Amino acid sequence: MIRFLIVRFFPSASYVQAAPGRPLIFQATLIHHRQPMKHIQSFTAVIFVGFMFLIFFYMNMNLETTNSRRAMSKAVLKQHDLQEDEVDVKTKRLEERDVTTSAAELYNVSVSDLLKKTIPHNGAYWNRLLYLSLKMRDDKNMSSRRSGPWSSCRENQELLITNVHDFPSYPVLFQLFVASMKCRAPPVIKQPNKCVSRDPGHHIFLLFAIKSSPGNFKQRQVVRETWGHEGKHVRTIFLLGSAGQDDPDFSFLLSMEDKHYGDILQWDFNESFLNLTLKMNMVLHWAVRRCPDISFVFSGDDDVFVNTPALLQYLRSLSPSKASQLYTGQVINHATPHRDPKNKYYVPQSFYDGPYPAYCGGGGFVFSGALLLPLYSIFQVIPLYPIDDAYIGMCFMALGVSPQPHNGFRTFDISDKDRENVCVHKNIILVHRRSPQEIKRLWRSIHSHLLTC
Ligand SMILES: *[C@@H]1O[C@H](CO)[C@@H](O)[C@H](O)[C@H]1NC(C)=O
Ligand SMILES: *[C@@H]1O[C@H](CO)[C@@H](O)[C@H](O)[C@H]1NC(C)=O
Ligand SMILES: *[C@@H]1O[C@H](CO)[C@@H](O)[C@H](O)[C@H]1NC(C)=O
Ligand SMILES: *[C@@H]1O[C@H](CO)[C@@H](O)[C@H](O)[C@H]1NC(C)=O
Repeated sequence: MIRFLIVRFFPSASYVQAAPGRPLIFQATLIHHRQPMKHIQSFTAVIFVGFMFLIFFYMNMNLETTNSRRAMSKAVLKQHDLQEDEVDVKTKRLEERDVTTSAAELYNVSVSDLLKKTIPHNGAYWNRLLYLSLKMRDDKNMSSRRSGPWSSCRENQELLITNVHDFPSYPVLFQLFVASMKCRAPPVIKQPNKCVSRDPGHHIFLLFAIKSSPGNFKQRQVVRETWGHEGKHVRTIFLLGSAGQDDPDFSFLLSMEDKHYGDILQWDFNESFLNLTLKMNMVLHWAVRRCPDISFVFSGDDDVFVNTPALLQYLRSLSPSKASQLYTGQVINHATPHRDPKNKYYVPQSFYDGPYPAYCGGGGFVFSGALLLPLYSIFQVIPLYPIDDAYIGMCFMALGVSPQPHNGFRTFDISDKDRENVCVHKNIILVHRRSPQEIKRLWRSIHSHLLTC
């Protein structure tokens, strides 16, 4: 059964080897074998010309490959709507590194024992997948790391039923999630060029990566006009999947929006609550390439209110050691999966059996830019889990980073009597579930000069 799982879940991949360059050796041989006699001389001349031709041809071929590689990366960049000269050198290097890829380097991340102690090694499907993946990692089996092409990454039903006895009793959305768990590389639809500073002297401090969905135009607009307003050190992107079959077609409106604001990052996968983990995987994939120097990343929903000045002030007050290992928000301790099938957060016991590590509520949390690459790497080791914030907690635990509770993050809202109290909002960093109108009102009032708190 385990073998079965290995083969089905981690299709092998092939890596391209660069051709070694040899023209210099040819030249040396040629000089050594030159003879003094005349006919030999002319013979040599013919050979020489022949060799020169070969060398020329060979070098040209080499050049061709380099050129075509360059052309390819240019094509990739173009496809992503990037002006090549706008991309800073570091980003370009990363992009190239990704082409030839040092998978070994990217996935070179160790998993803390604490995670293995916390998550039991039992018969539940996800638990089995986790331990299988850890074993492959220990065996340095890199061929297991690449997910197959997007068109063929979905698992077939019979196999799932073989592996999970009560699979047919899972809710439909959950079944869809499980069937597409190893699908990790959805095609990109829109991708902005974000963290490139217009002024090369300074770098971007904070990136707001906001989970949105195609139809949430109002929410995005109010975020742009208030807390997510881009400044010298702040950038904002909205993360979108594709609109559902039953939704109106937003593609034209979205391209207008993207053209105007340049802050839409969209992939071709079905939006669903259970797919938020995939969304997070994708934004990390994007950010390690496009924003490698960012100081902090905020991940949150489009219906939260953020007191950006307070957040920036807090982040700037951190000591360098804290700032490089930060994972903060409202920390949820001792949580376990919900077992009521009607609950939004339902997870069947045969899928995952174990507790959740402490994690920051997904409404909004912040982590260090220095953790982007380790986090992305660990995402590739740990199988995707349908509850995104709990999953991120597992990943940080695997990295040995524990969540820092911060009282200013109120992902479960504040008490009802304080909802209209501006002074309370002035002192917090984030509060969840506010309408676009409430967000606008709050933003205006915390900036009011008449405020005396
Ligand atoms: C992996 O990381 C270890 C320690 O962090 C380092 O010694 C090793 O060279 C790295 N290997 C690769 C392939 O990058
Ligand atoms: C690595 O994993 C692949 C399946 O993904 C398997 O076919 C192969 O035998 C494994 N290699 C080693 C050295 O274990
Ligand atoms: C999205 O879901 C619909 C049905 O719900 C399906 O037909 C379609 O193939 C899915 N799209 C992707 C990219 O998986
Ligand atoms: C997640 O997205 C993939 C790709 O579009 C889709 O096949 C899958 O059904 C989605 N998952 C859920 C739970 O809708």
